[in-house]
Amino acid sequence: MLDTATVQIIKATVPALQLYANDITSHFYPLLFAQHPEVLPYFNQTNQGKGTQPKALANAVIAYGANIDALGNLSEAVSKIVQKHVALGILPEQYDAVGSCLIQAIKAVLGDAATDEVIDAWTKAYGQLANILIAAEESIYTENEQKSGGWRGEREFILVKRVDESSVITSFYFQPFDDKGLPNFEAGQFLTLVFDDINGVSMRRNYSLSDATGKDYVRISVKREPNGVVSDHLHNNIQLGDKVKLRAPSGDFT
Ligand SMILES: Cc1cc2nc3c(=O)[nH]c(=O)nc-3n(C[C@H](O)[C@H](O)[C@H](O)COP(=O)(O)OP(=O)(O)OC[C@H]3O[C@@H](n4cnc5c(N)ncnc54)[C@H](O)[C@@H]3O)c2cc1C
Ligand code: HEM
Repeated sequence: MLDTATVQIIKATVPALQLYANDITSHFYPLLFAQHPEVLPYFNQTNQGKGTQPKALANAVIAYGANIDALGNLSEAVSKIVQKHVALGILPEQYDAVGSCLIQAIKAVLGDAATDEVIDAWTKAYGQLANILIAAEESIYTENEQKSGGWRGEREFILVKRVDESSVITSFYFQPFDDKGLPNFEAGQFLTLVFDDINGVSMRRNYSLSDATGKDYVRISVKREPNGVVSDHLHNNIQLGDKVKLRAPSGDFT
């Protein structure tokens, strides 16, 4: 629980953050990637180029500040962030890196307005939000791991079948390399494919499960995007017998 003085400072500074949200997040990402290059592979660099993620993070921070004494209002937003983070495999220790760079960015943009009290309040508030997300994410990681046929982290699968559905869509059928079975999943859930090295870069992308649960394989159907890094790689390079790393089904669309 945050103390009253901290809550008051957060509420008083929300309008400034709202005004400078885009500046803060534009400062934040270069700082994060320079100081913690190990988190770079988690981020879709195409989204970075399009400016999608800076807007999402800015909105989340502002919504959090504005609801600091009524966090129940944020449960839907928190759940969306948690689902995204779990799909990508975000880890508790990465929250300190993000928090430190966010606070540095707030200081850089607010300048003299970022007094010690303001920085202290946002550091505490960020810590509270981080703890909420870390706990919710851990509970899904545990649930995914404990399901029959479930797993935590990345698991090796083998491509057992490829079907061209159209000139631009191909279905890929994967079976686990370890033969320890598969968990049931819900309609609308998706997998995350993790590639350690596509042209020297590590990439993660989500693909919806396109066949029913209860089979001895999982299937995804991938549209080839013009100049899309991962969809091109799948279409051009992944052949029968190749191994890929998958994260467990995620996404709460039920
Ligand atoms: C929950 C979820 C489920 C999904 N399910 C599916 C699915 O079932 N099937 C499926 O095919 N996809 C699905 N996707 C989309 C998938 O995750 C990938 O985003 C998609 O395959 C494109 O990835 P890529 O690496 O090929 O393309 P990227 O390299 O990410 O590029 C995407 C597009 O952006 C363009 N681009 C690159 N840089 C810029 C820039 N600076 N400015 C503007 N445009 C740029 C590229 O040319 C390309 O056309 C899903 C996504 C989510 C979030
Ligand atoms: C309190 C801290 C955090 C907040 C408020 C936050 C908020 C968000 C939001 C709102 C999204 C968009 C969700 C969506 O697409 O629906 C997102 C996505 C994401 N977050 Fe976080 N996040 C936090 C911490 C972290 C940490 C510690 C990491 C680890 C490096 C991280 C990595 C990511 C990544 C990789 C994405 C997907 C973006 C992309 O692919 O470009 N986040 N986050």
